[in-house]
Amino acid sequence: MFDFSDKVALVTGAAGNLGQTTAEMFHARGAKLALVDLSGDRLNSIYAKWTGSKDVLLLSADLTDATSVQAMADQAAAHFSHIDILANIAGGFTMGPPLHETPVKDWDFMINLNARTVFLTCRAIIPTMLAQAGGRIINVSARAATVGKGKMGPYCASKAAVITLTESLAAEHKLNGININCILPGTIDTPQNRADMPDADYDTWVPTADLADVILFLASDAARAVTGAALPVYGKS
Ligand SMILES: NC(=O)c1ccc[n+]([C@@H]2O[C@H](COP(=O)([O-])OP(=O)(O)OC[C@H]3O[C@@H](n4cnc5c(N)ncnc54)[C@H](OP(=O)(O)O)[C@@H]3O)[C@@H](O)[C@H]2O)c1
Repeated sequence: MFDFSDKVALVTGAAGNLGQTTAEMFHARGAKLALVDLSGDRLNSIYAKWTGSKDVLLLSADLTDATSVQAMADQAAAHFSHIDILANIAGGFTMGPPLHETPVKDWDFMINLNARTVFLTCRAIIPTMLAQAGGRIINVSARAATVGKGKMGPYCASKAAVITLTESLAAEHKLNGININCILPGTIDTPQNRADMPDADYDTWVPTADLADVILFLASDAARAVTGAALPVYGKS
């Protein structure tokens, strides 16, 4: 549907469920890829088929750590000389006790994993996009960002922060040719969710390919007039 020849897409969380599907779909449409995740070993194993390709760069980084993120961004920019698309997919979910019983470290973990990672990656990559006068950023929030739920306060707050960060970034860069949007997945159809919720109706969950299609749309020229959006992608749920 879309042609990303000559485009470089940097995908975080590339060893995860949605990250893998998104990387495959960008690759199938001609994009060069910088694939980022915490574990270099998992990246090497998942993307062994692309070993030796100069069009695919595998980078391990802790995206909650500013130094690690800057080093990753510098390596990607040096290798490709431009970064056209940032798909910020790394993130995660925990739930726990009511907020008044939540350990501070659990709060910090969620806020850092979902909000700080978006802040740090955008902070590190936007200068490259400014230098090339354009880019696309797609952040991944969640449906749970829209209404706070019991025992999920840190997760809901961390994903709500992704929406407001996206809006602030979009306002800052709408005249700079950089479009910044986020998607709000409902429950994604992943092996982990199937194992955790064996009695659920999987047909109502959103497949990773359906989410990746929306990410590719937002990265494409067809979405040139869209910035600052928080797009629900709930499937049939
Ligand atoms: N799954 C759902 O139902 C659902 C629903 C709504 C929104 N979302 C959001 O959608 C996105 C993708 O979900 P998914 O199910 O594909 O998640 P996933 O399979 O857990 O993938 C996330 C990836 O991010 C990596 N990661 C974690 N911490 C990192 C760090 N500090 N630095 C670099 N990489 C790190 C993970 O590595 P490790 O495995 O080594 O930790 C994992 O490979 C996430 O942002 C998630 O919050 C998911």
